[in-house]
Amino acid sequence: MSRKKVTILDIQKRKKNNIPITMLTAYDYTAALQVDQADIDIILVGDSLGMVMLGYPGTTQVTMAEMLHHCQAVARGTSAAFLVGDMPFMSYQADVAEAVRNAGRFLKEADMDCVKVEGGQEIANTVQAIVKAGIPVMGHIGLTPQTVSQLGGYRIQGKTAASAQSLLEDALALQEAGCFSIVLEAVPAPVATVISERLTIPTIGIGAGAGCDGQVLVYHDMLGLYDNLKPRFVKEYGKIGEAVITAVQTYTEEVRSRHFPAEEHTYPMKEAEEAAFLAAVAGR
Ligand code: KIV
Repeated sequence: MSRKKVTILDIQKRKKNNIPITMLTAYDYTAALQVDQADIDIILVGDSLGMVMLGYPGTTQVTMAEMLHHCQAVARGTSAAFLVGDMPFMSYQADVAEAVRNAGRFLKEADMDCVKVEGGQEIANTVQAIVKAGIPVMGHIGLTPQTVSQLGGYRIQGKTAASAQSLLEDALALQEAGCFSIVLEAVPAPVATVISERLTIPTIGIGAGAGCDGQVLVYHDMLGLYDNLKPRFVKEYGKIGEAVITAVQTYTEEVRSRHFPAEEHTYPMKEAEEAAFLAAVAGR
């Protein structure tokens, strides 16, 4: 049975009714079909695709063209989940007008329902301008991978009382600027809980504990498809990477030992046609 399209109002209602929001990344058509079918509320086409799909060392290398390409594929595979397009590094930081134009491309060219941007008070003006243009914005604070160099590495944020308070101020500034929800990444659970309680918009946590209004994980991490980097907050719900390697090894062995293809994988020919064909090519 097909389900109804998830809207921004449904997401807001989940917080009001204390129903946890589910979000997962997807980067291609087939993954989107599967995730959408599994009843997820929100699909994030995250710039984490730079690492898990494109083999970059981080997310800063990801371009607008790459993001739009993957967003278009995900949109083709999604019928119900709310779609979030992640704005890549330097597509919104330099200039507010450019940020609005780039945000618009995610909706116009790639069928996303909103965009996500990383940063706190320093990008509140940009968020305000994008929202004013009619484009919903999801914020992202805490560990912000696009500025990992400035943060000094992939580190937990808000560990001291002062930095935790600054995170709360960032969250309030983003809410005030018009964000409809905020991702909290790698933040101590007590800090994320207080931020979630203080905000009227939902928080979606990744490594931020159970006090958030929803949770997000990276598709490849939760399926056990990518183990180059395995943060503490990842729970593996499958060992699909191992299953892929085993399947490919079996295929390789069966081709080499001539066990594949078997008769059931082969197109037969009528006996008379085969005989006529063999007679026609005999001696050539
Ligand atoms: O790019 C991404 O996948 C993200 C999530 C980790 C929230 O931003």
